[in-house]
Amino acid sequence: MKHQQWQQIVASIDGGKVVGGARYVHVSALAEKVLDAVRAGVAEVGGPAEGFNVVKVVPDSTKLSLLHYPSFFERAFPLLAESWTIDLAEGRCERRSYDLARNPPVLHRKELLLRADDPRRVEFASLTEEAERHGLFANTLIIGHKNQWEEIVRAKGLRVEGHSLVAIPKPGESDAAAVLRHRTAMARRGLSTPMQALWRHGYVGGSLTVLDYGCGRGDDLAALEAAGVAARGWDPHFRPEGTREESDVVNLGFVLNVIEDPDERGMALSQAYGLARRVLAVSALLGGRAAEERHRAFGDGVLTSRNTFQKYFGHEELGEYIATVLGREPVSVGPGLYFVLRRDEDEQEFLEGRQRSSGRFGAMPRAPARPIVERAPRAARAKAPTRWEKSAEVIEAFWSACIELGRPPREGEFERLAELTREVASAPVVLRRLSEERGVEALEGARQRRMGDLSVFLALNLFERRRSAGSWGPRARVDLREFWGSYPKAMEAGQALLFSLRDAKAIGAACATAAAQGLGWLVEGESLQLDARLVNELPPALRVYIGCAGKLYGEVQEADVVKVHIASGKVSLMRYDDYEGCAIPLLVERVKVDLRRQQVSYYRYEAGGEFEPQPLYMKSRYMHPAMEGYDGQRVFDEGLRAAVAGAAGLAVDWEGYGPPLEGVGAVLAGMTAPAGMRVVGEGVAGSGDRGMGSG
Ligand SMILES: C[S@@+](CC[C@H](N)C(=O)[O-])C[C@H]1O[C@@H](n2cnc3c(N)ncnc32)[C@H](O)[C@@H]1O
Repeated sequence: MKHQQWQQIVASIDGGKVVGGARYVHVSALAEKVLDAVRAGVAEVGGPAEGFNVVKVVPDSTKLSLLHYPSFFERAFPLLAESWTIDLAEGRCERRSYDLARNPPVLHRKELLLRADDPRRVEFASLTEEAERHGLFANTLIIGHKNQWEEIVRAKGLRVEGHSLVAIPKPGESDAAAVLRHRTAMARRGLSTPMQALWRHGYVGGSLTVLDYGCGRGDDLAALEAAGVAARGWDPHFRPEGTREESDVVNLGFVLNVIEDPDERGMALSQAYGLARRVLAVSALLGGRAAEERHRAFGDGVLTSRNTFQKYFGHEELGEYIATVLGREPVSVGPGLYFVLRRDEDEQEFLEGRQRSSGRFGAMPRAPARPIVERAPRAARAKAPTRWEKSAEVIEAFWSACIELGRPPREGEFERLAELTREVASAPVVLRRLSEERGVEALEGARQRRMGDLSVFLALNLFERRRSAGSWGPRARVDLREFWGSYPKAMEAGQALLFSLRDAKAIGAACATAAAQGLGWLVEGESLQLDARLVNELPPALRVYIGCAGKLYGEVQEADVVKVHIASGKVSLMRYDDYEGCAIPLLVERVKVDLRRQQVSYYRYEAGGEFEPQPLYMKSRYMHPAMEGYDGQRVFDEGLRAAVAGAAGLAVDWEGYGPPLEGVGAVLAGMTAPAGMRVVGEGVAGSGDRGMGSG
């Protein structure tokens, strides 16, 4: 279409909502012949003839957009599901789809897009007026996306109903007085889940200062103190005199979910973050509709039978809430648990660190370590030890550093570099000789492993679109340049890895490779299931696949068993009661992550609940032969197989879930568990008003 012809069409469009010079018009407000002309122009560049309901044009420009807002007339503030950005002059048409469950753009003042005489305008305009009156549009910078918008509406104590704003009934004075927040603080023996996670990641137990904000009865503080770790705590009920000082690490554990006042909830989060110099851990009780239905609705949560308030968050909802309030994207660490790392470099280092494989389970070729001095001492050399022999210890340390890094260490990466150079020779010379003596396989294996780890990290960074991406720490910087030659080349490798996930065949092949290496139990074409401790040893494509699920779940190693569904783009993460201590553990929780739909479903298994705890038979199938406890488990599993096969009238297919426990009760009664273990776990009993993920 000629430029001039298009200009005439654009000029003939009037009305609509004008934002930043562009005009947005609903298709019902366009004359038939104008809409036909738009369709004709768009068709020339391969754009759609249907499937959009709003057209955005720009005067004196050949650029336009087609937008699709499903339920435009029904939904008070429609959400953008799809858009096409078109440049008629350049013949370009780009389609983009938005996941409505995530955080798509939201449309306000939709009446303006309709014809001036459209009868629906009256109702829509009155909604706009109401919203203006409540000051909902005050901050135009943040109202444009669903989550932020909903948070603003909620914060004003409002809810959208049809095309009206209604006040959320405020908990009455007597009700509010009845909320006994402190009653939510439970006594516990060990460290809470978030404190354990902070410990595991080295934030607690070292030299960093720790503050437990909303510490309840102080059980975490007591456990830390018993372990010789100094930590401070504050709680408005139990420890009001405690100090609230700036600290390196702050824990806000299961506090947000007990605060019934949305403003105070946001304030508690902001204040806790304000005190965190390095990292803030935020955890909240998770629960779905079922948990809510058990109790009386109260504010935006429920009032339990013990007069405690609970706002049951969804895992994603919690992450988005943190991001909205703090303006910083948190990192998902476990169900209902996030870390907010203040510095970009720390965030990148954290993400990169959790992609490190151990290489212990045979995925990478590893050369047998040979002794440092191979040659038999000859008579002539017997007297004075050589320089090389004298410095065996520093050489060994240097070699370990090379294997750990997958490359020779740089200045600052091996603290005895100066000593090595002075006593033996320069690092490249020493490395050359070591490679000759020990073979290059070990170093090459380490290099491959590190490149695998880094490409997984880069691919996941791209998937998550992290703002901190690129703020690499010094080690990653050297690695990327050394291994790929340049940063763009490294990014390409990460991108290629991410894109490879679209191919179910490639996923199937990677699952087969993993199973052949002893990593998991493969049901060909269907699934690979494995012990979660093995995830970082998998081929990179599978690690990214599972890592993408981790964005919605948290650290997958928090689960016990991971199942990769080969064709359907799903990952299931299972947690058992005392998985390591039982030969047949019982399922407690299953989380299914649908990567294509970006949806997470939680299933809780409990005695007397909706799902009964399910036994996990043949646990050795999910383990690697090099894992501790494998041999004992294998003997037990084979014993069970044989005992069941020999029992009269019992025919069991172990390829599926296996029989219900009662069916093999008599056989199990005669079996001995592997050393230090129980035969069967206990599962969990129904848990009243406690949701998942509590500490
Ligand atoms: C479920 S308990 C969690 C206690 C502890 N963090 C733990 O994990 O065991 C919730 C605690 O939050 C405290 N709390 C209530 N409102 C708070 C606020 N605005 N700021 C900080 N803590 C608060 C309560 O007093 C209660 O001790």
